[in-house]
Amino acid sequence: MHSAQRHHFSGYFNCLAGCILSASLMTGTFLAGCTHKSDSSAVKKEPVSLYDRGRIIYVTRCIACHNQDPHQPGSIGPAIYGSSLELITARVMHAGYPPGYKPQRATHIMPPLPDLKGDIPAIYAFLNGKK
Ligand code: HEC
Repeated sequence: MHSAQRHHFSGYFNCLAGCILSASLMTGTFLAGCTHKSDSSAVKKEPVSLYDRGRIIYVTRCIACHNQDPHQPGSIGPAIYGSSLELITARVMHAGYPPGYKPQRATHIMPPLPDLKGDIPAIYAFLNGKK
């Protein structure tokens, strides 16, 4: 009777120790998993396509005036889907037009956005559906 009681007692402790141990092991694995994940994403970042970059720039910088869907006219600016690289460059750099281009609007509302110089190829990819 005495020894059976002791066995029961130590069995309880074994279980408790096992639970704590496995819980901390799981925590350890979980943390290691997190660290590993953030490490690998920091090392090899998925490259964002020109198209996706252009879409982000369009949404953040152009839809104040142009339509969220560049096929449609916006609140202020016209539809600009299919714009050529020359047209986008002229508009973004100095709110101009390429030589000989017939503007959709006679207004001069759009400001130049020359800080987007490096993003013109991305805007072009987005506005021409080049994924
Ligand atoms: C402040 C409002 C505004 C913003 C912001 C703006 N545009 Fe415009 N955009 C216009 C207006 C208005 C026109 C029509 C001409 C004018 O009045 O300047 C135009 C014309 C254009 C045209 C020429 C359309 C044509 O065929 O005649 C293109 C291309 C263009 N915008 C591209 C862009 C791009 C790309 C962005 C974002 C990087 C942008 N615009 C941001 C208002 C804006």
